[in-house]
Amino acid sequence: MGPEEFRRAGHELVDWVADFRSGVAEHPVRSRVAPGDVARALPGAAPEQPEPLEALIADLEAVVVPGLTHVQHPSNFAWFPSNASLASVLGDLVAGGLGALGLSWQSAPALTELEQVVCDWARRLCGLSGAWQGTIGDGASTATLVALLVARERASGGSQRSGGLQACPAPLTVYCSADAHSSVTKAALLAGYGVANLRLVPVCQPGREMDTRALASLLGADQDAGRRPAAIVATSGTTATTAFDPLPEICALAKSYGAYVHVDAAMAGSAMLLPECRHLFEGIEEADSLCWNPHKWLGSILETSLLYTRDPAGLVGVMATDPSYLRSSRDGTVVQYRDWGLPLGRRFRALRLWALLRLEGAEAIRARLRRDLDNAQRLAALVGRTAGWSLLSPVQLQTLCLRHHPQGCDGEALDRHTLAWCEAVNASGRAHLTPALLDGRWMVRVSIGAEGTEWEHVEALWALMQAAAQASS
Ligand SMILES: Cc1ncc(COP(=O)(O)O)c(C=O)c1O
Repeated sequence: MGPEEFRRAGHELVDWVADFRSGVAEHPVRSRVAPGDVARALPGAAPEQPEPLEALIADLEAVVVPGLTHVQHPSNFAWFPSNASLASVLGDLVAGGLGALGLSWQSAPALTELEQVVCDWARRLCGLSGAWQGTIGDGASTATLVALLVARERASGGSQRSGGLQACPAPLTVYCSADAHSSVTKAALLAGYGVANLRLVPVCQPGREMDTRALASLLGADQDAGRRPAAIVATSGTTATTAFDPLPEICALAKSYGAYVHVDAAMAGSAMLLPECRHLFEGIEEADSLCWNPHKWLGSILETSLLYTRDPAGLVGVMATDPSYLRSSRDGTVVQYRDWGLPLGRRFRALRLWALLRLEGAEAIRARLRRDLDNAQRLAALVGRTAGWSLLSPVQLQTLCLRHHPQGCDGEALDRHTLAWCEAVNASGRAHLTPALLDGRWMVRVSIGAEGTEWEHVEALWALMQAAAQASS
C-alpha cells in the first residue's frame, strides 16, 4: 500500500472508527458470540490477491464488532475501566505510521526522549517527587515481574552472575496481601522464588488492606528460620475491592529487613492525579518501584503501563545487554530503555499518552475522574439505603462491591442468587458487571469509569440490578 492509497483508506477507516465510537452504546455490552463463531466466519487462509477495503470493513462490522465485549460502552461496569480515549488512539496511529524501531537511543532518539518526558509529565501530575524515573511497558504484570527480578538480584547479591537462585544459601521470600492481583503470584513464580517462598499476608476487615502485624510476624519467622525476605509487593487499589495497603508501615518493615518494596497501583494510580486522593498513597515515596496503568482509568489505550524506579541502575544491572550491532558512540551518555525491561525492540508507546495529555489536557482528565468518584458515592448512597442490599467494603474510589441478600437466603443459595441476577444483567446486553469471590462467597463488582459513563448510565444500571435481583429472588 502506497501513501496515496493509505490516505484514502485511512480517511475511510478513521470515519469508520468514529462512527463505531459514536454508536457504541447501541451494541450489547457483552459479546453474544459462542466459542468458534468468529474463527468460523473467516476464511482459513490468507488471500493471494488484494481485497478491497470495503471487504475488510464488512468483516469488521459483521464479525469483529459482534465478537467484542464493548468495554468502551458507557454501561460497561465490568473488571476495571479500559478506556481507549480517541486522543490516545490518534497517538497510536502516529506511532504505527512512523514505524520507529526502539532498539537503542540511536535507533530512535525521539522515542527514548519522548518517553522520558512523558514519564516525567505523568510523575509531576501524580505529585511524585523527582526521585522517580519512569519507563513505559505493556502492563502491570510485566512491571511486577521486573521488580521481583531486581529484588531477587539485590537480595542475592547478583546471583544471576554466578549459580543463580539454585546456588543461594538461603531461600528468598516474597510477601503480598492475600488480595493482591494474580499477576504477583505469577511474577514470583516466574522470577524463580518458588511458591513455598511466597507469603500471602492476611487482610484486615473491613478495609481489606494488608495486615501489617501479620506481615511483621511472617517476616520475623522467615528470618528466624534462615530465609531471606527479599521483596514486599504492596497494592494501592486491589482488584477485588480497591483496598490500599498501608505503605508507611510496609516500607518501615521492609527497611528493617532489607527487603525491596514494589507498589502495584495498576488501576488506582490514576487517582494520584487528584490531590484529594493522594492521602491513599501516603508512604509511596519510601518504596523502591511503583507501577500504574494509564491504560485503565486514565484513558491511554492498552499497553501503556508506567513503571517508576528510584534506582534505574538496579534495572540495568539485571537486564542490560550489549550486542555489538547495537553499540554507538552515544553509549554511556543516554538512556537505553531496552535495559530497563524485557523487550529489545520497543514500540513508540509514549505517543499514546503524549497525545492524550496534550489533546485533552490534565484538567479535563481530572474532571472525568472526579465525575466517576462522585457517581460511585451516589450509587453507594442508593445501595446503602435500600433494604436487602449491602456494600461489602468501603468505596475508596470508583468500584463498589455489593450483594443482594433476600431474607433467609444464605450460603450456597445466596451464591446462586448472586450469580443468577448478575448473569441476568449481563445477558440483557444493557450493562456488564463482574462477579467475584470475596472470602469464598460470590459478590458483584460495579466498576464505574468508562469514559462515556454518566450518572444516567449508573442510575439505569441500578434499576436493572434491582429488577434482576427481584426476578431471581
Ligand atoms: C491491582 C492490579 N494489578 C495488576 C493487574 C494486571 O495488569 P496488566 O493487565 O496491566 O498486567 C491488574 C489488572 O486489573 C490489577 O488490577
